[in-house]
Amino acid sequence: MKATIIGTGNMGRAIATRLLSGGHEVTLIVHEAGDAEALAAELQETAPAGAKVTAAQPGSPIKDETVILAVWYNHHPEVVRQYGHQLADKILVDISNPLNATYDGLAIPADTSAAEQLVEIAPAGAEVVKAFNTTFGGTLIAGQVAGQPLDVLMASDSAEAKAKLAQLVESSGLRPVDVGPLVRARQLEQVGLLHITSQFVRGTNFGTAVKILF
Ligand SMILES: NC(=O)c1ccc[n+]([C@@H]2O[C@H](COP(=O)([O-])OP(=O)(O)OC[C@H]3O[C@@H](n4cnc5c(N)ncnc54)[C@H](OP(=O)(O)O)[C@@H]3O)[C@@H](O)[C@H]2O)c1
Repeated sequence: MKATIIGTGNMGRAIATRLLSGGHEVTLIVHEAGDAEALAAELQETAPAGAKVTAAQPGSPIKDETVILAVWYNHHPEVVRQYGHQLADKILVDISNPLNATYDGLAIPADTSAAEQLVEIAPAGAEVVKAFNTTFGGTLIAGQVAGQPLDVLMASDSAEAKAKLAQLVESSGLRPVDVGPLVRARQLEQVGLLHITSQFVRGTNFGTAVKILF
């Protein structure tokens, strides 16, 4: 399968690593011209046969149906402005935790979510899926915590988009968990906040995972 990742920071790198481990084709779109080729080359070196990663310059055409926004939530408007019409009919994966400046609360009102705000600015036809916000970058690179695959909790109003993302996630060694419609992103973002703040309480250094057992 193929996926485009916009943003090449901690999470762009981590999600790319996991998808490549599943033999997928990943395109990384960089923020500043020229800063991803080295990362693409590094990721390609450890990728299994058949997996392929390429770096694309800012503003490049987006060919893949699944587009993962590995940027901070306050950069969503910039990305939508930049790629605008190209995002119509795509599966837009919002991985953000919209934290406030002191990392002890969310920066947006309780009656909405970063994912729902993304729907408001995304072009018609784009299907937003909230996912990956409860998984930490380091654990995605490791691919497991305590010997267990990571859960990727997913919320979206599109069953088809969730099913396609679930296939990509599962074939990358992760465990997709459908938690319902996009309105559940409000709770996912609160869980993301809880998971982050618990690191400081428990000193677990972003090495933990959120799991639903069933
Ligand atoms: N880190 C985690 O463990 C973790 C876990 C769950 C969810 N998240 C969420 O994941 C998102 C990314 O977090 P992160 O830790 O990866 O942050 P990060 O390391 O700061 O990476 C963000 C990346 O986005 C890039 N960017 C900003 N605007 C862009 C644009 N218009 N086009 C392309 N790239 C753009 C930045 O480029 P520049 O550096 O050039 O600005 C940077 O490379 C956040 O929403 C965060 O809440 C993070």
